[in-house]
Amino acid sequence: MVKKAVIPAAGMGTRMLPLTKTQPKEMLPLGRKPCIQYIVEELASVGVEQVLFITGHKKRAIEDHFDKDNELSKMLSMSGQKDLLEELKYEDMDISFYYTRQSYPAGLGHAVRCAKDFVGNDPFIIALGDSIIHSKENKILLRRMLDQFEKDQESFVIATREVPLESVHRYGIVEPVAESKGGISQIKALVEKPSMQTAPSTQAVAARYIMPSRIFDAIDRTSPGKGGEIQLTDSIGLLLKEGGKGYAVSLSDREKRYDIGNFQSYYEAFLDFALEDERYGYQLKQYIIQKLGL
Ligand code: G1P
Repeated sequence: MVKKAVIPAAGMGTRMLPLTKTQPKEMLPLGRKPCIQYIVEELASVGVEQVLFITGHKKRAIEDHFDKDNELSKMLSMSGQKDLLEELKYEDMDISFYYTRQSYPAGLGHAVRCAKDFVGNDPFIIALGDSIIHSKENKILLRRMLDQFEKDQESFVIATREVPLESVHRYGIVEPVAESKGGISQIKALVEKPSMQTAPSTQAVAARYIMPSRIFDAIDRTSPGKGGEIQLTDSIGLLLKEGGKGYAVSLSDREKRYDIGNFQSYYEAFLDFALEDERYGYQLKQYIIQKLGL
């Protein structure tokens, strides 16, 4: 039922310099694929048909990655390299791609606002371009979020996960109405990057949202918040204040969020994905065991 998704990918990736001086952080490799490919495959797996990327300067590589490269395919097929041709299968995903630019950085709310014309009156998914949700569940997080949304199509749904109290200042934090049931709780309020003292919980917004198109009107009425930017969290807060209903669906213990926006978490992500590589994962594990003297 939800067929459209928006991927904000305009951030400059300054925390990953010099790696990101000329390449988008969304294109950084995790195992065999760039980060953004996992996200698009996640969206395709829940039936998304149209994806809009919100990009900015130096993000052209994302467009090239999802464009079909007929020359390359022809060359590989003529030289009989079928296994490599297989690696390009993702180009045939049943998704139409659209691109627009956020010409200056003014916050996640402002970036999402660039999707207004694309979205029209439809509900849509927001998937942050620098965050992968790795799931070993039969029903992945986004599927569970969509199931919740389909129960009440006037509502909105946000992914959340538990974070240590010392880290709440880095995330949007949810104030739940009550204890969660089966990983789902109704949301009372949201606060962007609170201090440890003021955080209403340790449930952090985790890079996936399902929103009604009403969010655009809320964004237009949102004043600059944390960091002087238009925060999506504040716009969602407005929906709640005006009687909107929202639900938090939390990651299970068989799911992990990887944020590739800083080196520590990027290294962890790269290692985990490389260890899962069908061909080289086992060898890498042996190498690590030997290196660490385990
Ligand atoms: C954004 C959101 C924040 C959310 C985070 C991770 O922050 O503003 O509410 O918790 O993504 O999904 P950023 O990482 O862009 O500073």
